[in-house]
Amino acid sequence: MTTLVIGAGLVGSQVARILVEEGKKPVLMDSAAQTKSIGEIVSLDKVTMISGDILRPLSVVKAIRDHGITGIVHTAANPMLTLGAQTDPYSAINLNIMGTVNVLEAARVCGVPRVVVSSSNVLNHYLAGGGGQTEPMNEEAYPRPTTFYSATKQAIESLGLNYSKWCNVQFAGMRYGAVFGPWSGAGGGGPSNVVRDALRKVMAGEEAIVPAGTMEWVYSKDAGRGTVLALRAKDLGTAVFNVTMKQPTSPDEFVQALREIVPGAKVRIETPKASAVSLPNMRRSSDPTISRQTLGYEPQFDILGALKDMHAWMKANG
Ligand SMILES: NC(=O)c1ccc[n+]([C@@H]2O[C@H](COP(=O)([O-])OP(=O)(O)OC[C@H]3O[C@@H](n4cnc5c(N)ncnc54)[C@H](O)[C@@H]3O)[C@@H](O)[C@H]2O)c1
Repeated sequence: MTTLVIGAGLVGSQVARILVEEGKKPVLMDSAAQTKSIGEIVSLDKVTMISGDILRPLSVVKAIRDHGITGIVHTAANPMLTLGAQTDPYSAINLNIMGTVNVLEAARVCGVPRVVVSSSNVLNHYLAGGGGQTEPMNEEAYPRPTTFYSATKQAIESLGLNYSKWCNVQFAGMRYGAVFGPWSGAGGGGPSNVVRDALRKVMAGEEAIVPAGTMEWVYSKDAGRGTVLALRAKDLGTAVFNVTMKQPTSPDEFVQALREIVPGAKVRIETPKASAVSLPNMRRSSDPTISRQTLGYEPQFDILGALKDMHAWMKANG
C-alpha cells in the first residue's frame, strides 16, 4: 500500500508524517515543494519527494505508475485559499476544479481505488439562500456558495461523489475547519496565517491582532488524522466529513488561550480589512456526527491544546 500525497503544505505534510509514523513510505508530490518546511514536519529520508503538477494530468498518471500507488490524498490548492480565489478566480477555479478532475481521472484510468480530497467547512458557512424545496421545485431550492473558493469546493465534492457513483473510484471529501498548525513556509489561508502571526508576535513580546469573528478551527494534526482515517475506512458511507475542533472559538476564548500560554500577552481583537472575506463569523458549528460514526474521528486538540502544541513547536524550531 503506497499513498500518493499531492500538495505538501500545512495539511499534506501532516498526512505524510502520520503515514510515516504508521511505518509507511508515502510519495509526496508538489509543484513547488518547500523542502525545508516539509523537513521540519516529516523526515525527508522517510518519504519519496517528487515534483508534479495536477494541471498536467500525465504527471499524476506517471506518479501512480512509477510508485505503484494504491491510494491518493489530494491537498493541493490555490495560494491563500479564499482570499487568493477572490483576487484570481480563474486560476483558483482551474486548479481546484480541473486539477481535482485530473487527479480523479488519473485514479480512474490507473485503477486507484480511493481518492481523499481536501474540501472545506466554508461549505457550512459561505452559503446563501436555499430552503426552496417545495413542490413544485423552486429554482432556489439549494443554498449557493458565496465565494469563488467555496464554489470550487462545492463543485469538487459533487464531481467526486459522481466519480464514486459512476466510475469505481471511491471519493472522500474532507471539510476541514480553518486550519492552523506547525508550518514555517508559505501556505494555508488567511486564518492559518493570522494565528501564526499572533503567536509569533506574543512570543516576541509584541502586540498581536486576533480575528474578531467566532471561528471553527481545526489543528493541522487533527486535519491530517481525519484524512488518514478516511484513507483507511472500510466503508465511506455518505463520503463527506466535517473535520473540526467541534466547538467554535470566540475571539475572547482565543485571547484567553493565548494568554494562558504566554502570560501577559498583549492582544487586540480586530478584523484586518484585507482579511475580511476570509474571517467570517462562523456562529454555527459543523455537525461532527458523520465523521465520528463513519471514521471514528474525534479531535485531539481543542484551542488551548492546539496553541500550546504550536507554541512548543515554534520555540523548538526557532
Ligand atoms: N488551511 C486552511 O485553513 C484550510 C481550511 C479548509 C480546507 N483547506 C483545504 O485543505 C487543503 C490543504 O490546504 P493547506 O492549508 O495545506 O494548503 P497549502 O497552501 O499549505 O498547501 C498546498 C500545496 O499545494 C501545492 N500545489 C499548488 N498547486 C499545485 C499543483 N498544480 N500541483 C501540485 N501541487 C500544487 C502548493 O505548492 C502547496 O505546497 C486545500 O485543498 C485547502 O483548500 C485548508
